Amino acid sequence: MNPYDFQPAAREARIRANTPGSLAAYTRSQKSLAGGVSTALRRSAKPYPMFYSHGEGAWITDVDGNRFIDYTLAWGPLILGHAPATVNDALAAQLPKGHTFGAQHALECEAAELLCEAIPCAGKVAFANSGTEIVQVALRLARAITGRALYLKFEGHYHGWDDSVLVSYKPAAADCGSMSPIPVGTGQRPWSGAVVARWNDRASVAAAFAAHHGEISAIICEPMLCNSGCLPPLDGFLEFLRETATAEGALLIFDEVITGFRLSIGGGQAYYGVTPDLATFAKACGGGLPLSVLAGHDDYMSWIAEGKVVHAGTLNGNPLALAAAVASLRALTPGVYTRLDQLGRVLRSGLEEALRAKGVPVVTTGEGAVFQLHFQAETPREYRDTLAANKALYADFLLALLDAGVLALPDGRWYLSAAHGEDVVEETLRRVRGL
Ligand SMILES: Cc1ncc(COP(=O)(O)O)c(C=O)c1O
Repeated sequence: MNPYDFQPAAREARIRANTPGSLAAYTRSQKSLAGGVSTALRRSAKPYPMFYSHGEGAWITDVDGNRFIDYTLAWGPLILGHAPATVNDALAAQLPKGHTFGAQHALECEAAELLCEAIPCAGKVAFANSGTEIVQVALRLARAITGRALYLKFEGHYHGWDDSVLVSYKPAAADCGSMSPIPVGTGQRPWSGAVVARWNDRASVAAAFAAHHGEISAIICEPMLCNSGCLPPLDGFLEFLRETATAEGALLIFDEVITGFRLSIGGGQAYYGVTPDLATFAKACGGGLPLSVLAGHDDYMSWIAEGKVVHAGTLNGNPLALAAAVASLRALTPGVYTRLDQLGRVLRSGLEEALRAKGVPVVTTGEGAVFQLHFQAETPREYRDTLAANKALYADFLLALLDAGVLALPDGRWYLSAAHGEDVVEETLRRVRGL
């Protein structure tokens, strides 16, 4: 069967006709803002990056007044949806008291206590502002504790945009033959300290440790590979990483920037029942404000407490971000996750059914509130398997979705929030069937 034709030319013409305000704003922003956007990935939006005026719950409205059901959720942070009342109230209460003190305040204790209660590996926590920063603290800590310079990462996993970790993230098919770290952009320092292995592939992990015996300070991974296809660990793989790290004298770090508070309130480690030595959180933990968290066993966090490992940042632990975090953490009850899980299943199977009915080969992977649509026949298990997807057809689908008032991320990932009711999911499926 021929793949379904989503009629991209007609869709694009209609979108352009309906979004003159976004095009005008983008034209303006390109004159003063590098690339016209604030982070590289947003530039890839087709036909051009849209400009939004406000969001409410599961919906977002652009500057031309078009309303969209939002499955991008700001690339992950909005686990409670747009502008939830509980976070708004917490921010409104904090605003007149001050935005940042550069000093201690009670919300730090409240947030830290909630996090230590929720996260299995958290004897103590430390705050920063972005996922990129907090991963650097975790890797520095691992180097200090082990006295080793290298770390092991997996192909396809993303740990922020620092030179040291921005390697072998979505390498092209032609580059996949080599396990050498491949920088993503120009200007990156040539030595990253990374040793690269393949996700869900025990042999590649064993080979990396054999080749660098006694040199690897940590294994870092997303406990579910969200950044390259929402690929869960195969049965026993996280346990294998846990055992390998311990046997090799390395630390196990879970980068829970996405899985944290999306799979469960205790992150991927609680969801999968494997406890790392250190874990990093961002996105959903800040309830939409910039916040990141390092969590770890007391024995490790004492290196920060005693000043042997430097962790710094002017805006770290600012009261606005922590007010939003405390409000979000309190709102994320077990019932929220049960509902997200159920809704995720309904949406995933509904999308599969609707797309297959149109002749599109599709499989989905992931869990509850974050999953991936792959336009391919075989279910992928590791990054290289995702290269089989029909990306051009997915781009056409995305354009058709936009035309139908549904927003999704360009890479095939879908995020759900607690504000997405059954009615919203049903409306989404109705629109997809009608494409
Ligand atoms: C798993 C993971 N780690 C780290 C980061 C970097 O976080 P930030 O964009 O807040 O710097 C991201 C961002 O998407 C991520 O998904």
